[in-house]
Amino acid sequence: MSGFETIIYEKKDGTAYVTLNRPQALNAYNIRMRDELYQVLAAARDDPDVRVIIFRGAGDKAFCAGADLNEFLTAPSPVIARQVRWERDVWGRFLSITKPIIAALHGYVLGDGVEIAACCDIRVASEDARFGTPEMGLGIITAAGGSQTIPRVINRAHAMDILITGRWVTADEALRMKLVNRVVPRDELLPAVERIADKIKTYDPLTVSCAKEAVTRGLDLSLERGLELESNLSARLSAS
Ligand code: COA
Repeated sequence: MSGFETIIYEKKDGTAYVTLNRPQALNAYNIRMRDELYQVLAAARDDPDVRVIIFRGAGDKAFCAGADLNEFLTAPSPVIARQVRWERDVWGRFLSITKPIIAALHGYVLGDGVEIAACCDIRVASEDARFGTPEMGLGIITAAGGSQTIPRVINRAHAMDILITGRWVTADEALRMKLVNRVVPRDELLPAVERIADKIKTYDPLTVSCAKEAVTRGLDLSLERGLELESNLSARLSAS
């Protein structure tokens, strides 16, 4: 897949690399990126050759500095800007993917950047990463799923801390909050993420997707229903 303006999509040895590619605007999320991401997520989801997906940001400074403020602030109103963005359910599409998604996070990880990261399954940050949700200062709330996905990744207290205060946190604090799984030196970021991807690829793809599904779907169920889901998935695996 090629011809995208805001995303680079590459495949190598069963890994799909999705690179947010607007480094001149710190990979800010605009409508074009929304449309391209929507296509790329379906391509990675439906391609049997893709076993693991890695998300990263182009350039030195940022994974993603949030919504494109130029686009956002020139829309007739924030409400209209938001409606336009909801025309593609990118966040629903993320959640429809049963393959593992790993985020390689560096530099600024703001707003939509945190929300994209929260849709991933494993997050690795470099030491220079800074996380924040500046939406409150713009008079809006996170609406790329963040109010729901972030508290499911970290606990409610930490989610409130970053969502309501707009406070930025360093990579080390993000690690303490469990917003990221590990922190590595900057030049180690991609190799560390690729090592995780390579390890996952040694396992049977159906087993991996059942393990992911048991956790992600189970989190939204009662314990009783969750245990039912687990035994159904386990039976499906045994039968396959
Ligand atoms: N939307 C559009 N353009 C953005 C952007 C965004 N969210 N964030 C950064 N950019 C652009 C800047 O306008 C600048 O463009 P220019 O070179 O044409 O002037 C370029 O990216 C580099 O950003 P700059 O501000 O010069 O870098 P910095 O290191 O001084 O500051 C930030 C980095 C992230 C602190 C600052 O860019 C910022 O506050 N961005 C907005 C973050 C935000 O509120 N996001 C929305 C969340 S909902």
